[in-house]
Amino acid sequence: MTSTVETTSAHPAVPRPGALEAVRARRSWSKVTDLAPSRDELLTFVAAAGRVADHSSLRPWRLIELRGEDRERLGTAIAAAQGDDKPSTKPLRAPLLIAVVASYRKSDKVPRWEQEAVASGVAHVLSLLLDEAGWGVIWRTGGYTRSRDVAKMHGLGTDEELLGWLYVGGKPPGARAGSRREVDARTFVSRPPTAATAEKLDKKSTTKAEKARKKKDKSRKKKKKT
Ligand SMILES: Cc1cc2nc3c(=O)[nH]c(=O)nc-3n(C[C@H](O)[C@H](O)[C@H](O)COP(=O)(O)O)c2cc1C
Repeated sequence: MTSTVETTSAHPAVPRPGALEAVRARRSWSKVTDLAPSRDELLTFVAAAGRVADHSSLRPWRLIELRGEDRERLGTAIAAAQGDDKPSTKPLRAPLLIAVVASYRKSDKVPRWEQEAVASGVAHVLSLLLDEAGWGVIWRTGGYTRSRDVAKMHGLGTDEELLGWLYVGGKPPGARAGSRREVDARTFVSRPPTAATAEKLDKKSTTKAEKARKKKDKSRKKKKKT
């Protein structure tokens, strides 16, 4: 049974077009040219991206600009993290890398996952703004993202974690970015189950979790014996 509470479909008084088209047009660019936004241009976008929803306005994030030789130092840190002899050339794929850092604040009200969601939101909005302004962007990570060597190279504090890097450069003339189809929104939007179905689902997931726990216990005991 669906809820009897229906929301209004009235249009807001002042429509603000633009975002829908910008989001639909955004693509990630894995290959970019050597052109990069200036620091001033970047600051304009960062100031706007910092407007994302932020519980208690903790601002639990910061960004680190990596240009020129900074990228080589990152390549060396990646190699150290992976135990490789030669520096990684991955950071050289774009002239500007923006390291996205979750800087967790002490809060009784706002748990870490909410703070990470804010940092992630800033990165998504910043990517969108850069893309809309004509820059090629791709968000990249790797197994080394949260390694000690990489954290050290970025000068991270004890309560900070990297969420990866936005690789930024020029969109190559004539090139086309890959394109993903829009999702079928109907499969991603649902109403809550009825109370009876919720009960059934809960029992099912509890049984599943219970089974997994028992299996774990059993294998632990087996390991102990051998
Ligand atoms: C947190 C995060 C980490 C990602 N890491 C990588 C990565 O290391 N390598 C990669 O090719 N794509 C990575 N992606 C995906 C790309 O950024 C991009 O979304 C994907 O290639 C699809 O392209 P599109 O954004 O144009 O749809 C990552 C995305 C996110 C949000």
